[in-house]
Amino acid sequence: MILRTAQNMRQIVLGWKAAGLSVGVVPTMGALHEGHLSLIAAAKGDNDRVIVTIFVNPTQFNNPADLASYPRREEADADLLVKHGVDVIFAPLIDQVYPHGFASKVTVLGVSEPLEGIFRPGYFSGGATVVAKIFSIILPDRAYFGEKDWQQVQVISRMSVDLNLPVQIVTCPTLRAPDGMALSSRNTRLSPAARETAAKLYPLMQDCAQAIAQGQALGPRLLATQSALVAAGFDQIDYFTLCDGPSLERLIAYAPNARLLAAVWLGDVRLIDNIVA
Ligand code: PAF
Repeated sequence: MILRTAQNMRQIVLGWKAAGLSVGVVPTMGALHEGHLSLIAAAKGDNDRVIVTIFVNPTQFNNPADLASYPRREEADADLLVKHGVDVIFAPLIDQVYPHGFASKVTVLGVSEPLEGIFRPGYFSGGATVVAKIFSIILPDRAYFGEKDWQQVQVISRMSVDLNLPVQIVTCPTLRAPDGMALSSRNTRLSPAARETAAKLYPLMQDCAQAIAQGQALGPRLLATQSALVAAGFDQIDYFTLCDGPSLERLIAYAPNARLLAAVWLGDVRLIDNIVA
């Protein structure tokens, strides 16, 4: 069942809650892949009812071309979700999310500021605002997010704690193609040649993380991997850096909870990835 209005969605959830059923939500922007399906499987394991939201949220795109080219496949997505036993698809109309006069914004300071926060201004406040809306429409017990968007998970977790949102944030590991590339909806836009290059990111990150964890000096090791990325065919590196995982503060030496995070370009496609170091 696809629902388009907040009111219909809320009614269904209230019925489930009255019957004592737990509700999990998987927020998405559609163009679903195995990574999303793994979130759905986790949600189905933990909850009596599972809702998947599909909404390509315009306020989290700082680049109009990226918004225009974002893959949209609602019919195929809906078929897949029915096959995977999702109870309701919430694909709201734009005016259900941003009604006339909408003037609110959720801004999470700190964790949202470095990395993606620098290269994609407005991305996290757009994302946090829409997720806060999804939570207040659906009133889920649990919400599922993939670690591929590591910084997003920290932003949403911070928001939920700070605003006392009564929802448990569940994070699931990044799903990868057999060659190691992190699954992402944007990957469908890679040319065959770019797709081959994309697969080189993960092994280079793994080598780097291992070297850092074994005590190699951080600065030179990061620079060496950045050079290797350029040599492998990546067109541009927005960042390739070691941070403290939960706070996203940049590290100048290896520390427990260190996370290696990357954002790189192949033509007009931007890829992000992160791994534990
Ligand atoms: O990760 C995404 O697909 C989006 O940022 C989200 C969480 C669905 C909010 O629009």
